Amino acid sequence: MLLHLQTWPEVEAYLKKSTAIIIPIGSTEQHGPNGLVGTDAICGEAVGRKLGERTGTLVAPTIAVGMAQHHLGFPGSMTLRPSTLIAVVKDNVESLARHGFTHFYFVNGHGGNVAPFSAAFSEIYAEASLMRASNRPAVRCRLRNWYETAGVKAISRELYGDQEGSHATPSEVSLTWAVYPETQKPMKMSPEVAPRGEFTDANDYRRNFPDGRIGSNPGLSSIEAGKRLWEAAVSDLAGDLAAFVKMPA
Ligand code: NI
Repeated sequence: MLLHLQTWPEVEAYLKKSTAIIIPIGSTEQHGPNGLVGTDAICGEAVGRKLGERTGTLVAPTIAVGMAQHHLGFPGSMTLRPSTLIAVVKDNVESLARHGFTHFYFVNGHGGNVAPFSAAFSEIYAEASLMRASNRPAVRCRLRNWYETAGVKAISRELYGDQEGSHATPSEVSLTWAVYPETQKPMKMSPEVAPRGEFTDANDYRRNFPDGRIGSNPGLSSIEAGKRLWEAAVSDLAGDLAAFVKMPA
Protein backbone atom coordinates (compact mmCIF):
# COMPACT_ATOMS: atom_id res chain seq x y z
CA MET A 1 0.00 0.00 0.00
CA LEU A 2 1.51 3.25 -1.13
CA LEU A 3 0.47 6.40 0.70
CA HIS A 4 0.33 8.49 -2.45
CA LEU A 5 -2.13 6.07 -4.07
CA GLN A 6 -4.61 6.22 -1.17
CA THR A 7 -7.46 8.64 -0.54
CA TRP A 8 -7.63 10.39 2.82
CA PRO A 9 -10.58 8.26 4.01
CA GLU A 10 -8.50 5.18 3.18
CA VAL A 11 -5.60 6.53 5.25
CA GLU A 12 -8.01 7.25 8.08
CA ALA A 13 -9.26 3.65 7.91
CA TYR A 14 -5.66 2.31 7.88
CA LEU A 15 -4.89 4.27 11.05
CA LYS A 16 -7.64 2.38 12.88
CA LYS A 17 -5.69 -0.87 12.43
CA SER A 18 -2.06 0.31 12.28
CA THR A 19 -0.11 3.47 13.14
CA ALA A 20 3.13 2.31 11.50
CA ILE A 21 4.57 3.63 8.25
CA ILE A 22 7.61 2.73 6.15
CA ILE A 23 9.56 5.61 4.61
CA PRO A 24 12.15 4.66 1.96
CA ILE A 25 15.15 6.97 1.86
CA GLY A 26 18.08 7.20 -0.51
CA SER A 27 20.27 9.60 -2.40
CA THR A 28 20.68 10.98 -5.90
CA GLU A 29 24.40 10.78 -6.64
CA GLN A 30 26.97 9.23 -8.97
CA HIS A 31 27.53 5.50 -8.63
CA GLY A 32 30.60 4.89 -10.75
CA PRO A 33 30.85 4.12 -14.48
CA ASN A 34 27.86 1.76 -14.74
CA GLY A 35 25.73 2.55 -11.69
CA LEU A 36 22.66 4.76 -11.90
CA VAL A 37 22.57 8.20 -10.29
CA GLY A 38 19.40 7.06 -8.53
CA THR A 39 20.92 3.84 -7.16
CA ASP A 40 20.46 4.52 -3.44
CA ALA A 41 16.92 5.84 -3.80
CA ILE A 42 15.95 2.98 -6.13
CA CYS A 43 17.30 0.41 -3.66
CA GLY A 44 15.64 1.95 -0.59
CA GLU A 45 12.36 2.27 -2.47
CA ALA A 46 12.40 -1.25 -3.93
CA VAL A 47 13.12 -2.85 -0.55
CA GLY A 48 10.74 -0.53 1.34
CA ARG A 49 7.84 -1.10 -1.04
CA LYS A 50 8.20 -4.87 -1.12
CA LEU A 51 8.46 -4.85 2.68
CA GLY A 52 5.22 -2.87 2.78
CA GLU A 53 3.48 -5.39 0.51
CA ARG A 54 4.75 -8.33 2.54
CA THR A 55 3.69 -6.91 5.91
CA GLY A 56 0.59 -4.89 4.97
CA THR A 57 2.29 -1.67 6.07
CA LEU A 58 1.66 1.68 4.42
CA VAL A 59 4.67 3.10 2.51
CA ALA A 60 5.30 6.85 2.26
CA PRO A 61 6.85 8.61 -0.75
CA THR A 62 10.61 8.08 -1.03
CA ILE A 63 12.95 10.78 0.25
CA ALA A 64 15.17 10.56 -2.82
CA VAL A 65 17.72 13.34 -2.23
CA GLY A 66 19.93 12.83 0.81
CA MET A 67 23.24 14.03 2.21
CA ALA A 68 25.77 13.46 -0.57
CA GLN A 69 27.95 16.59 -0.63
CA HIS A 70 31.07 14.51 -1.34
CA HIS A 71 29.65 13.32 -4.68
CA LEU A 72 29.09 16.80 -6.15
CA GLY A 73 32.26 16.54 -8.25
CA PHE A 74 30.30 14.24 -10.61
CA PRO A 75 27.48 15.42 -12.92
CA GLY A 76 23.97 14.60 -11.80
CA SER A 77 24.73 14.33 -8.10
CA MET A 78 22.45 16.29 -5.76
CA THR A 79 22.67 16.93 -2.03
CA LEU A 80 20.88 18.45 0.91
CA ARG A 81 23.05 20.05 3.59
CA PRO A 82 23.01 17.96 6.77
CA SER A 83 20.99 20.70 8.50
CA THR A 84 18.45 20.76 5.64
CA LEU A 85 18.03 17.00 5.71
CA ILE A 86 17.47 17.05 9.47
CA ALA A 87 14.68 19.61 8.93
CA VAL A 88 13.15 17.52 6.11
CA VAL A 89 13.04 14.41 8.30
CA LYS A 90 11.48 16.31 11.23
CA ASP A 91 8.79 17.88 9.06
CA ASN A 92 7.93 14.58 7.39
CA VAL A 93 7.62 12.76 10.73
CA GLU A 94 5.67 15.55 12.39
CA SER A 95 3.22 15.85 9.48
CA LEU A 96 2.32 12.18 9.77
CA ALA A 97 2.40 12.16 13.59
CA ARG A 98 -0.34 14.78 13.56
CA HIS A 99 -2.66 12.21 11.97
CA GLY A 100 -1.80 9.53 14.51
CA PHE A 101 1.16 7.69 12.98
CA THR A 102 3.49 6.63 15.80
CA HIS A 103 6.06 4.20 14.34
CA PHE A 104 8.37 5.45 11.58
CA TYR A 105 10.49 2.80 9.89
CA PHE A 106 13.05 4.24 7.47
CA VAL A 107 14.56 1.86 4.90
CA ASN A 108 17.83 3.47 3.89
CA GLY A 109 20.05 3.03 0.83
CA HIS A 110 22.82 5.55 1.56
CA GLY A 111 25.54 5.67 4.24
CA GLY A 112 25.75 9.49 4.17
CA ASN A 113 22.18 9.68 5.51
CA VAL A 114 22.88 7.82 8.73
CA ALA A 115 24.36 10.67 10.80
CA PRO A 116 21.78 13.33 9.77
CA PHE A 117 18.90 10.90 10.42
CA SER A 118 20.29 10.01 13.81
CA ALA A 119 20.49 13.75 14.62
CA ALA A 120 16.93 14.27 13.32
CA PHE A 121 15.57 11.51 15.56
CA SER A 122 17.36 13.12 18.54
CA GLU A 123 15.80 16.50 17.66
CA ILE A 124 12.34 14.91 17.53
CA TYR A 125 12.80 13.13 20.86
CA ALA A 126 14.40 16.22 22.46
CA GLU A 127 11.37 18.35 21.72
CA ALA A 128 9.14 15.79 23.41
CA SER A 129 11.49 15.56 26.40
CA LEU A 130 11.97 19.29 26.87
CA MET A 131 8.36 20.36 26.58
CA ARG A 132 6.90 19.15 29.84
CA ALA A 133 3.39 20.40 29.18
CA SER A 134 3.48 19.26 25.60
CA ASN A 135 0.65 17.32 24.08
CA ARG A 136 2.90 16.26 21.22
CA PRO A 137 2.18 12.67 20.24
CA ALA A 138 4.89 10.19 21.19
CA VAL A 139 6.70 8.67 18.23
CA ARG A 140 9.37 6.03 17.70
CA CYS A 141 11.75 6.13 14.74
CA ARG A 142 14.12 3.49 13.39
CA LEU A 143 16.52 3.52 10.44
CA ARG A 144 17.73 0.30 8.84
CA ASN A 145 20.27 0.05 6.00
CA TRP A 146 19.02 -2.54 3.52
CA TYR A 147 22.62 -3.43 2.59
CA GLU A 148 23.57 -4.36 6.15
CA THR A 149 21.04 -7.07 6.99
CA ALA A 150 22.55 -10.46 7.85
CA GLY A 151 21.12 -12.16 4.76
CA VAL A 152 22.33 -9.43 2.40
CA LYS A 153 25.83 -9.42 3.89
CA ALA A 154 26.08 -13.21 3.58
CA ILE A 155 25.15 -13.07 -0.13
CA SER A 156 27.50 -10.19 -0.95
CA ARG A 157 30.33 -11.95 0.88
CA GLU A 158 29.64 -15.17 -1.03
CA LEU A 159 29.43 -13.49 -4.45
CA TYR A 160 31.88 -10.60 -4.19
CA GLY A 161 34.18 -11.06 -1.16
CA ASP A 162 36.45 -8.04 -0.81
CA GLN A 163 35.39 -6.69 -4.24
CA GLU A 164 32.11 -5.53 -2.66
CA GLY A 165 33.82 -2.30 -1.54
CA SER A 166 31.87 0.58 -0.02
CA HIS A 167 30.59 2.75 -2.86
CA ALA A 168 29.08 1.76 -6.22
CA THR A 169 29.09 -1.78 -4.91
CA PRO A 170 28.15 -4.76 -7.09
CA SER A 171 25.35 -5.52 -4.60
CA GLU A 172 23.58 -2.18 -4.97
CA VAL A 173 24.15 -2.02 -8.74
CA SER A 174 22.74 -5.57 -9.04
CA LEU A 175 19.63 -4.59 -7.10
CA THR A 176 18.94 -1.61 -9.38
CA TRP A 177 19.27 -3.92 -12.41
CA ALA A 178 16.77 -6.35 -10.86
CA VAL A 179 14.32 -3.45 -10.46
CA TYR A 180 15.02 -1.86 -13.88
CA PRO A 181 16.49 -4.60 -16.12
CA GLU A 182 16.55 -2.25 -19.12
CA THR A 183 19.23 -0.14 -17.39
CA GLN A 184 21.85 -2.87 -16.98
CA LYS A 185 25.28 -2.00 -18.33
CA PRO A 186 27.72 -4.91 -18.08
CA MET A 187 31.20 -3.41 -18.16
CA LYS A 188 34.78 -4.36 -17.28
CA MET A 189 36.18 -1.91 -14.73
CA SER A 190 39.63 -0.36 -14.95
CA PRO A 191 41.19 -0.89 -12.51
CA GLU A 192 39.02 -3.89 -11.69
CA VAL A 193 38.84 -2.99 -8.02
CA ALA A 194 38.68 0.71 -7.12
CA PRO A 195 40.98 2.35 -4.55
CA ARG A 196 39.98 2.64 -0.91
CA GLY A 197 40.53 5.52 1.48
CA GLU A 198 38.95 8.54 3.07
CA PHE A 199 37.63 11.86 1.74
CA THR A 200 36.48 15.28 2.85
CA ASP A 201 34.71 17.47 0.29
CA ALA A 202 33.70 16.93 -3.35
CA ASN A 203 37.07 17.94 -4.83
CA ASP A 204 38.97 15.71 -2.45
CA TYR A 205 36.64 12.80 -3.28
CA ARG A 206 37.06 13.15 -7.04
CA ARG A 207 40.86 13.40 -6.67
CA ASN A 208 41.02 10.17 -4.63
CA PHE A 209 38.33 8.21 -6.48
CA PRO A 210 38.47 9.37 -10.12
CA ASP A 211 35.69 7.16 -11.53
CA GLY A 212 33.50 7.50 -8.43
CA ARG A 213 33.87 4.00 -6.97
CA ILE A 214 35.39 3.16 -3.58
CA GLY A 215 36.93 -0.29 -3.15
CA SER A 216 34.35 -1.98 -5.37
CA ASN A 217 34.08 -3.92 -8.62
CA PRO A 218 30.57 -3.34 -10.01
CA GLY A 219 31.69 -5.18 -13.15
CA LEU A 220 30.51 -8.25 -11.17
CA SER A 221 26.89 -7.02 -10.99
CA SER A 222 24.01 -9.16 -12.28
CA ILE A 223 20.22 -9.16 -12.31
CA GLU A 224 20.21 -12.63 -10.75
CA ALA A 225 22.23 -11.43 -7.76
CA GLY A 226 19.98 -8.40 -7.45
CA LYS A 227 16.89 -10.59 -7.13
CA ARG A 228 18.51 -12.65 -4.35
CA LEU A 229 19.68 -9.56 -2.47
CA TRP A 230 16.25 -7.92 -2.76
CA GLU A 231 14.50 -10.95 -1.29
CA ALA A 232 17.06 -11.33 1.50
CA ALA A 233 16.71 -7.70 2.55
CA VAL A 234 12.90 -7.85 2.62
CA SER A 235 12.85 -11.12 4.49
CA ASP A 236 15.32 -9.89 7.15
CA LEU A 237 13.61 -6.53 7.61
CA ALA A 238 10.12 -8.09 7.89
CA GLY A 239 11.11 -9.70 11.21
CA ASP A 240 12.75 -6.51 12.44
CA LEU A 241 9.69 -4.41 11.51
CA ALA A 242 7.32 -6.80 13.27
CA ALA A 243 9.33 -6.46 16.50
CA PHE A 244 9.57 -2.68 16.07
CA VAL A 245 5.81 -2.10 15.78
CA LYS A 246 5.20 -4.03 19.01
CA MET A 247 7.34 -1.54 20.97
CA PRO A 248 5.56 1.37 22.68
CA ALA A 249 5.80 4.74 20.90
NI1 NI B 1 25.00 3.73 -2.95
